[in-house]
Amino acid sequence: MSLQPANNEHPSTTRPVVTLPRLLAKKDSGQPITVLTAYDATNARQLDAAGVDILLVGDSLAMTILGHPNTLSVTMDEMLHHVKAVRRGTEKALLVADMPFLSVTLGEDEACRNAGRMVQEGGAVAVKVEGASPTVCAVIRRLVSMGIPVMGHLGLTPQAIHTLGGFKVQGKTPVQAAQLLRDALVLQACGVFSVVLELVPTEVAEIITQALSIPTIGIGAGLQCDGQVLVIDDILGRYTQLSPRFVRKYADMATETQQAVTEYCNDVTSKTFPNAAESFTLDESMKETVLSAMRSVLDESNLSSSRQLAGAS
Ligand code: KIV
Repeated sequence: MSLQPANNEHPSTTRPVVTLPRLLAKKDSGQPITVLTAYDATNARQLDAAGVDILLVGDSLAMTILGHPNTLSVTMDEMLHHVKAVRRGTEKALLVADMPFLSVTLGEDEACRNAGRMVQEGGAVAVKVEGASPTVCAVIRRLVSMGIPVMGHLGLTPQAIHTLGGFKVQGKTPVQAAQLLRDALVLQACGVFSVVLELVPTEVAEIITQALSIPTIGIGAGLQCDGQVLVIDDILGRYTQLSPRFVRKYADMATETQQAVTEYCNDVTSKTFPNAAESFTLDESMKETVLSAMRSVLDESNLSSSRQLAGAS
């Protein structure tokens, strides 16, 4: 890491700060909304500078960052830690914090306190909540009335993975598709500002999108949604444990990282790193004085160790 601050401390883009009314305006004018997950400040800074509308600190970080097999294990405190980091790297994008498993369903007061922490301590603008059960809807109504914007999440809701029986497309039968539409309308009535539709057939997502006045954000839900979200580690090819069909990979960072690290190890073991330009030397004017001060220390320590040796014998 350089000792000089890089000249790109916080890329000041000229775009305006993304707000809820701007997102609604995008839906109304047919401009697609871009959403990506972000989990740390450095990444957030890059995504923000690239012009992403919404940065979502998704509970997917349980898998991509923390190494769990699903999203159920991540806690409120762990989520909050990452929300704070992403806040530090975000200037223009709208920051949404995912509410993790159990943070919403164990009582309305606790849910409101948890969501409040995401905003007050984490600096999130909004929170995302999975599902549309009566319990969840009651919480969403309270959060909205408290001034906390809420993003809904329907279709494949990963926190219900055990109930759903795996990462499967949702809404394929008439009963399921009708229920999805009903749930989307209920969430809209509860006051959510947008809804994520995950792993839903394109036709179903299209009808829901047309039925709602708020934006739908698709993930594996086709082109007709008002916006798209993907997991940053998936599009950069950094998370390789799963490769869902709906992901488009724009880079292969897992391979690139491994290649770079192999080269680094080779350079260290072959003693070609660091070179002169990557090292620091003493000023010529000070060199002799510094070296002589150090020689004195060596002499003193040689003297004291030979005394110790003499004392021991
Ligand atoms: O946790 C997450 O990353 C998400 C998105 C994929 C929508 O919920």
